[in-house]
Amino acid sequence: MTLTKYERVQEELKITPRKWLVTGVAGFIGSNLLEKLLRLDQTVVGLDNFSTGYHHNLAEVQAAVSTTQWEKFRFIEGDIRDLDRCHEAVTGVDYVLHQAALGSVPRSIEAPLVTNDVNVNGFLNMMVASRDAGVKRFVYAASSSTYGDHQSLPKVEEVIGSPLSPYAATKYFNEVYADVFHKVYQLNTIGLRYFNVFGQRQDPEGAYAAVIPRWIAAMIRNEKIVINGDGKTSRDFCFVDNVVQANLLAAMSGDSTANEIYNVAVGEQTTLNELFFSLANAYADTAGSYERSPTYGPARAGDVRHSMASVAKIMRKLAYSPEVRVKDGIYKSLEWYLAYLNRSGCSSATNSSERREAP
Ligand SMILES: NC(=O)c1ccc[n+]([C@@H]2O[C@H](COP(=O)([O-])OP(=O)(O)OC[C@H]3O[C@@H](n4cnc5c(N)ncnc54)[C@H](O)[C@@H]3O)[C@@H](O)[C@H]2O)c1
Repeated sequence: MTLTKYERVQEELKITPRKWLVTGVAGFIGSNLLEKLLRLDQTVVGLDNFSTGYHHNLAEVQAAVSTTQWEKFRFIEGDIRDLDRCHEAVTGVDYVLHQAALGSVPRSIEAPLVTNDVNVNGFLNMMVASRDAGVKRFVYAASSSTYGDHQSLPKVEEVIGSPLSPYAATKYFNEVYADVFHKVYQLNTIGLRYFNVFGQRQDPEGAYAAVIPRWIAAMIRNEKIVINGDGKTSRDFCFVDNVVQANLLAAMSGDSTANEIYNVAVGEQTTLNELFFSLANAYADTAGSYERSPTYGPARAGDVRHSMASVAKIMRKLAYSPEVRVKDGIYKSLEWYLAYLNRSGCSSATNSSERREAP
C-alpha cells in the first residue's frame, strides 16, 4: 500500500522526533497542533499569554496523550511582545509553528493598536528570535483576509487586493516581513493563509467568537441565531485537522517549497444560509432539533463578501490533501461542543430529528 506524503511525514517524525515551538499553544489551532505533535512523540515548547487561549485547552490535550508524551511538552507563559521570552522559547528548536495573534476582524476595528502590537510587533519578535536561534523553518499563520477587496474566485496566492480591516493589514504585514527576513537574513519561512478554520476547541464564547462555534452554542442553548447580512455571504470553511496537516507538511517539505505563501482550505464555497441549515440538520441528527429560524442583521464592517480558495498550489507543492470535508467536520465539531458545553453546565434543546432545507 502506498503511503500519502502526510503519512510518510508522520512516520519520519516518529522515527526521528524533532523539537517544535508552537506559539498560541493554548488557543484553538495551537492546541490542536500540540495534540498532534505529542501523539507523534515530538518534543514541544509552547508559548502563550492566555489572552484568548485557555488552560482547559491544554488540560484537554494532556488528557488525550500519554504521560510520556505529555512530559515532552514544556509550557512557557509569556507574551510574544517580550523579545526575551521569544528567545527563551525558541532555544534549540527545529521548527516554529507561529499561531499567536489577536484574531477577529471586529476586534481589530475596535482595538487596532493592540492588534497591531501583537500581530506585527510580536510577529517581528518571533522572527528575530527564530533568526537568532537558526531554526530550520518558521511556519506562520497568515490569513485569507489578505485577499481583501479583490473580487475574483477562487483566490489564488499571487493575486491579492487591499486589506479591508486592521486585522487583514497586520496579516499582510506578516507576509511582507517574512519575505524581507528571507531576503535579508535567509530565514526559511512558509506562510499559510488559513481560510475560516473550525473544529474542536474553537472558543464559542464572547463577542468575537467565530460563526460555527457561536451558532452551535446557540443551538445547544436554544438561543436565537443572527446572520450578519443577507445570508449570501460565503466562506471556505476548513476543519482544523486539515490545518494541522498543512503545518506539518509545510515544516517538513524541501527547500524548494520555502519562502512562499499557501492557501489552506478545502476549496468549497458555503453561504451563511447553507451553513445554518447544515448545522441545524447535523444538530437534528445528533442532539435534538433547533426549531428557530435565523434572523438577519446588518452586514459586518470589514468583512469580505465571498471567499473561496484555490488549493491547487498547496496540493501540488506540499502534497496537501484536505482529509475532512466541511460536512464531516461539522459532525465532528458538534460532537465535541455537545460534550464541552454539557460539561460546562449547558442543556440542549428538544429531541426530534426534523430536517431543514436551505432557502
Ligand atoms: N481561526 C481561524 O479561522 C483563522 C483564520 C485565519 C488565520 N488565523 C490565525 O491563526 C492563528 C491561531 O488562531 P486561533 O483561531 O487558534 O485563535 P485563538 O485565539 O484560539 O489562539 C490564539 C492564541 O494566541 C495567544 N496569544 C494572543 N496574543 C498573544 C501574545 N501577545 N503572546 C502570546 N500568546 C498570545 C492566545 O492566548 C491564544 O491562545 C492566529 O494567528 C490567527 O490570526 C485563524
